[in-house]
Amino acid sequence: MTIIDSHCHPQFSQYDQDREEVIKRALDTNVHMICVGTDLEMSQKAVELSEKYDSIWASAGLHPTEVSEVQEPTRAAYEKFIKHNKVVAVGEVGLDYYRIKDKILQNKQKEMFIEFLDLAMSNKKPLIIHCREAYDDLLKIIGNSKISGVIHSFTSDFKTAEKFLAKGFFIGFNGIITFTDQYNEAVINTPLTRTLIETDAPYLTPEPYRGKRNEPSYVIEVAKKIAELKNIPVEEVTEQTTKNTLKLFGLND
Ligand code: NI
Repeated sequence: MTIIDSHCHPQFSQYDQDREEVIKRALDTNVHMICVGTDLEMSQKAVELSEKYDSIWASAGLHPTEVSEVQEPTRAAYEKFIKHNKVVAVGEVGLDYYRIKDKILQNKQKEMFIEFLDLAMSNKKPLIIHCREAYDDLLKIIGNSKISGVIHSFTSDFKTAEKFLAKGFFIGFNGIITFTDQYNEAVINTPLTRTLIETDAPYLTPEPYRGKRNEPSYVIEVAKKIAELKNIPVEEVTEQTTKNTLKLFGLND
């Protein structure tokens, strides 16, 4: 049974010493992955990994905390990645008012998100959205756009999740749910048919590996926690979330 880590960063420098082994550990346990870009360089590296491994797909985007005040024109640079046959989404892109408090930069994030939303729509690709403490602004920008995607690393209540579910989005959960009870209500109430699992490796290491670097093979811990909270077999979680990931990103796996 294949599991897909729908959001990880094996291209990051944290894996420069042992990237091949980390990826092998995942593939050996049938964990496939979507390697998510966070800026131009990391999107390029994600594409390179996707070219090297059949079971790795890539996305290209600019993380909201990487948005700078004088942002270079980005559209053309990212468009070339978006057209690549292993690039399955635009992201991660979005809004982060938790880490970025500066109003000018927050406005720049909105401007960039609007641009990436348009890029995704015109290339018919789903969005991988990063959002922290900016859910209302994000919902306003998405409006009634006919766009699909995932709200990755979801950290709000079910009332907020429902607004994204109503727009057709999937909700992505990761290791956070293994070490806090804060999002249990959102996990339990989000239908399994609209749930994705991810690691966000190298960050947010799940229990029982807290304190270690995260890696895609640990994604099973997220599935186990969802199974526990929903009181269903873990196989049901892995089977359905894999189906969801294949469907959202149009993968042939
Ligand atoms: Ni990420």
